[in-house]
Amino acid sequence: MSLRLGDTAPNFVAKTTEGEIDFYQWLGSSWALLFSHPADYTPVCTTELGMTAKLKDEFEKRNVKAIALSVDPLDSHMGWVNDINETQNTRVNFPIIADADKKVSELYDMIHPNANNNFTVRSVFIIDPNKKVRLIITYPASTGRNFHEILRVIDSLQLTDGYQVATPVNWEDGQDVVVAPAIPTSEIPAKFPKGFVEVKPYLRLTPQPNK
Ligand code: BEZ
Repeated sequence: MSLRLGDTAPNFVAKTTEGEIDFYQWLGSSWALLFSHPADYTPVCTTELGMTAKLKDEFEKRNVKAIALSVDPLDSHMGWVNDINETQNTRVNFPIIADADKKVSELYDMIHPNANNNFTVRSVFIIDPNKKVRLIITYPASTGRNFHEILRVIDSLQLTDGYQVATPVNWEDGQDVVVAPAIPTSEIPAKFPKGFVEVKPYLRLTPQPNK
C-alpha cells in the first residue's frame, strides 16, 4: 500500500555511498529529504544531485538530512558521483542509496509501473523527526525538481508546527501568513501581537510570528 501524509515512514537498512545505513538511526532527530531519481549517468538527475549538494547549508539550517535513491548498484553510484562533482562544481555530501533489489523503492512506492517498470520516478518525501511523512511529491522523469520549492515547504511545515498559522499561495519565508481558521478573530490580538488584517472573517493575515 502506498504511503500517505501522516503515515509513519518505514525504516530500512540499505547500502549507500556512505556505507550501510539504518534509516532511523542515521536520521536521529533530524528531518529527512528522501528522494528518488530514475537512473545514474542521466542529465537531469546529475543537475538535481548537484543542486542538493550545493544547498547543504540550507538543509542544515533547517535540521534536514538529504538522502537520494535509485535502483542502480553501488559501483555505478560511486562512479557517477565523480561526474556530478566535476560537472556541477560541487561535492556530493549526502548518501545515495543503491537500491538494486528495489526493497526501499517498493516500501516507498517509488516505482510507478505504468510510467516505467524498471526505474524509480522522481519521488520526494519529507519526513519529520517523529518519522511521520509530511510531504509527498511525484515528478515525471523528464522534469527536474525545484529544490527551492522543497526548502519552501520545509519552512512552511516547521513554521506551522510551531504556530497556529498556515502559509498562503506562493508564500516565502518572511512574508505574512494566514491565521488558522480555528482561532476566533477576538483571540487574534493576544496570540499575534504584531497585528492582523481581516480581509474576510475566514481570511486573517498576520506578520510571520517567528521573524
Ligand atoms: C534524466 O535524469 O536526465 C532523465 C532520466 C530518465 C528519463 C529522462 C531523463
